[in-house]
Amino acid sequence: MTEPGEARPLWHGRFGAPPSDELMAFTESLSFDIALAPDDIEGSRAHVRGLGRAGLLTDTEVQAILGALDTVDQEIADGSFVLAPSDEDVHTAVERRVTEIAGDAGAKLHTGRSRNDQVATDLRLWLRREGTAAAARTHVLQATLLDRAAAAGDTYLPGYTHLQRAQPVLLAHHLLAHFWALSRDVTRWRDALTRANVSPLGAGALAGSSLPLDPDAVAAELGFAGRFENSLDAVSDRDFVAEALFVAALEQVHLSRIGEELVLWSSEEFGFVRLADAYTTGSSMLPNKKNPDVAELARGKAGRLIGNLTGFLATLKGLPLAYNRDLQEDKEPLFDALNTLSLSLVALRGVFETLEFLTEPMQHAADDATTAATDLAEQLVREGMPFRDAHAAVGSIVRDAAESGQPFADAVAADGRFGPDVSAVFEPGETVRRRTSPGGAGPEPVREQLVAARARLAEQAQWLHV
Ligand code: ARG
Repeated sequence: MTEPGEARPLWHGRFGAPPSDELMAFTESLSFDIALAPDDIEGSRAHVRGLGRAGLLTDTEVQAILGALDTVDQEIADGSFVLAPSDEDVHTAVERRVTEIAGDAGAKLHTGRSRNDQVATDLRLWLRREGTAAAARTHVLQATLLDRAAAAGDTYLPGYTHLQRAQPVLLAHHLLAHFWALSRDVTRWRDALTRANVSPLGAGALAGSSLPLDPDAVAAELGFAGRFENSLDAVSDRDFVAEALFVAALEQVHLSRIGEELVLWSSEEFGFVRLADAYTTGSSMLPNKKNPDVAELARGKAGRLIGNLTGFLATLKGLPLAYNRDLQEDKEPLFDALNTLSLSLVALRGVFETLEFLTEPMQHAADDATTAATDLAEQLVREGMPFRDAHAAVGSIVRDAAESGQPFADAVAADGRFGPDVSAVFEPGETVRRRTSPGGAGPEPVREQLVAARARLAEQAQWLHV
């Protein structure tokens, strides 16, 4: 017999002895799945109403359980919920408390339901909310990038390949490059959440039920687009978790690349941005230091999110149908990924809102005469020279100038092939003004791009209801 106060699990009828402390310590999930409490309660409300409609509970019983669920909801929200030793996970904790409050009616709550369909339902509800919130935070960061891009006017900086100066680009163009990557992240959230929006409730432990349940009606009540097609799949499918982990990991990789640029740009070597005091940290020993920790952690935390994705895929890969306890390992990486991503988005948004672009060093670096090399080759192309020959001609001027120490612009002026007006190409900002092709880095196409980015943001806002 179980002693009072000892863990008395949901399956106590079949067992002669209570679970060991070691088992409970190892298998419990309440310490982290308590985050699902609002979703667990929402799912139970819909389930109980369904049982009422099926004639399995009387109206009085339905009302008693709904009242108890409201009380539990309140207790969890205000912190007065008292845990019992038998509370293994959020589902057992909520059901135990509902039964304490509603008595025999409460003991009917789990009719026709298993924790297997319940946990899958809860987690989908949780992801629907938190995934949308992550997308909304992405949207806010995009809006800040767009504002800063619009305010940057015709400021330009070197564009890089291989981290070597290549061709000047507008600062707005550079910022908008990140905007579009984040916009794809928002569409990925949307796709992933559409696939996640299917109700597993009614699948039972694995095979459905002999009771007259109506999973379609319960799905509709929970705002799902529909119900599962196959009960085995419903309780064992964690694709929605893996997809969310991928979307989050890829987005954090985007933030990591942004972070890396901020680290470079805020270094004295680049000196392209000055980060605000409120978004930098000092050194405990070196009084001169002002460090870009937000940018570094946005970069560093990408490792965690990649690990969460690969780790969870490894958890899934060997599992036979249907539910296996391994699946409990879905929650910690998912919670961690969305929490980390959200913190990163909010912090980086603050960095971008408050940083100062140091336009003079940016433009000075971009005015390096050799960044006009491609324009010079293109001038020869316009005069009919094959591009390969033009490339070689300009390349040899670059090499000769570098070897002799002669300024590149002087070497070009001295070369008869470019004509007397060639020095115009070396005017500050001239080459970026010549980037006129659609989607290019110059003022004309960037003005169009700003309009397109605003339109994209407005589309996103409709989906996100922000
Ligand atoms: N805590 C469990 C989980 O997160 C709930 C489902 C338990 N089901 C079971 N058959 N033991 O997956």
